[in-house]
Amino acid sequence: MSEPLFQDVIRKRRSVRKFEPGRQVAREALERIVDCGRWAPSCANVQCFDFIVVDDPEVRDRVMEVFLRQAQRLVDHAKGFPAVKKTYLANTVAIIIVLGDPRWKVCFPQPTSKSWEAEYRDNNEMIFLNSIGAAIQNIQLGVAAEGLTSAWLSGGGEDVTNTELAEVLGYPAWMKAYGTIPIGYPASTQNRRYRRPLEQCLHWNGYQPKKYRTHAQVDFYESTLRPFAMYRDEESMETWEDRAEKLGDWDAAFTAAAPNPRRRPGTGGRFFRAPHHGSGH
Ligand SMILES: Cc1cc2nc3c(=O)[nH]c(=O)nc-3n(C[C@H](O)[C@H](O)[C@H](O)COP(=O)(O)O)c2cc1C
Repeated sequence: MSEPLFQDVIRKRRSVRKFEPGRQVAREALERIVDCGRWAPSCANVQCFDFIVVDDPEVRDRVMEVFLRQAQRLVDHAKGFPAVKKTYLANTVAIIIVLGDPRWKVCFPQPTSKSWEAEYRDNNEMIFLNSIGAAIQNIQLGVAAEGLTSAWLSGGGEDVTNTELAEVLGYPAWMKAYGTIPIGYPASTQNRRYRRPLEQCLHWNGYQPKKYRTHAQVDFYESTLRPFAMYRDEESMETWEDRAEKLGDWDAAFTAAAPNPRRRPGTGGRFFRAPHHGSGH
């Protein structure tokens, strides 16, 4: 097999939640995948992550039980979020849990006085999470490069799930599972997924107001489009058979080069209303 091109790997990294049952993978492949995580960037090179690879079916099943309970809590308490059932975890060849170790935050830039404490605390939290995110992303790319597939489970970071996972896997519960990556052989080809047109998110030399997405557009995505954008095997909404029905008046906002074509340069200001605290906007 020839080496895949980097761009191919980027595009092959789709979140797939259906795996072929009864497959196995060599530990060497899992080691290569974890090595991708090890080479991720981290602030001050603290490498504030550890990787637990579960490839023993008995331990895997106990981890799955934790996520089945987590999924049920999501159904019961997370307002209509379109999550899929986690029973597919039974067909993983391995599950990688990426732990974040918060003690390393002391190595990030620290304030010289009390008045700078809040600024640096927030900054360090972002730096910490970004460093772990980079490791998780590298692992996902490593998975794709091996011809396997995965999805990024974020639920593991919440308190109940994390306490239960820590009990099963024996890590200190003040470390957190920021990313859980179930790995398997894809049961179906899933090569495409909705992405905004490149022109919509690319701004040359400054933010272009024509590309600003209004609060109403965010609301429409949340109320109507989200499950389709998350799970359909289509890169563009232009190819959706039910495009007119699903998009209605929002068609151009999601498919054209600019969601806000009438907005002229220099007319930002008041128009960019800040989000409300505690809600999406
Ligand atoms: C921080 C983060 C958390 C995510 N959490 C979950 C999750 O809990 N369960 C899941 O099935 N997918 C999860 N995903 C995957 C996204 O749903 C997925 O990346 C998105 O729908 C786009 O699909 P794609 O990855 O195939 O491009 C998460 C992705 C990210 C970056």
